[in-house]
Amino acid sequence: GVEVIVLSTAEEAVRLVARVVARSVRARPDLVLGLATGRTMEGVYRELVRLHREEGLDFSRCRTFNLDEYVGVSSDDPRSFRHWMQEHFFRHVNLQPANVHLPDGMAADLEAECLRYEEQIRAAGGVDLQLLGIGRAGHIGFNEPLSSLQSRTRVKMLTPVTIRQNAAACGGEDRVPRRAVTMGVGTILEARWCVLVALGLEKAEVVARAVEGPITSMVPASALQLHPRCTVVLDEAAASLL
Ligand code: GLP
Repeated sequence: GVEVIVLSTAEEAVRLVARVVARSVRARPDLVLGLATGRTMEGVYRELVRLHREEGLDFSRCRTFNLDEYVGVSSDDPRSFRHWMQEHFFRHVNLQPANVHLPDGMAADLEAECLRYEEQIRAAGGVDLQLLGIGRAGHIGFNEPLSSLQSRTRVKMLTPVTIRQNAAACGGEDRVPRRAVTMGVGTILEARWCVLVALGLEKAEVVARAVEGPITSMVPASALQLHPRCTVVLDEAAASLL
């Protein structure tokens, strides 16, 4: 089931999420952490970096798997999620590089890369805690509307809404890659615990559809209602249509 937690501000919401992650890492130092990118996550990583610096939160045995990566951009391209993660999180904490995983959007054989990624997650024992943002069209990872609720890691075409939404981070709409490798909805649902964060008025409608609407592939995030343990953390604005 879905448990919804509403905090009055975005700052409090991201702080709570970081504390939840920190508690899990302390309880289980080799935690398998599923990671997400996006503006919403910036505050979560900022807070985790602070906990690492000020309270010695130790990531040295923690393993991470990111949800997705653009196709055709290399790790040193500032548009890539690997680069984004490096800047916002990886280079500020003590994760071991070998424990950090993202799909390789440059792989010559993308289909094989998707299978390899699934296999890596399985070999790690599955994701313990999966962080999720939500796109305005209802996507989680890059599972755009009409994604099968049982989908596995695969290549998806991005929708115009998503391309527009991610334009600023890529330096313009025409610079946004058209395809991405993403964990599937089925992959995400296998995480033992899903923690979705949404902030601001622009997310209020999609949050209501995801949490209270019918479970439909039109709103891939609505599949989280099928998950045995999903926590949705919102600020008041994002919760305003619930
Ligand atoms: C991208 C990511 C999603 C993320 C979404 C929302 O599309 N692939 O995982 O949830 O952005 O981003 P933001 O937090 O910037 O609204």
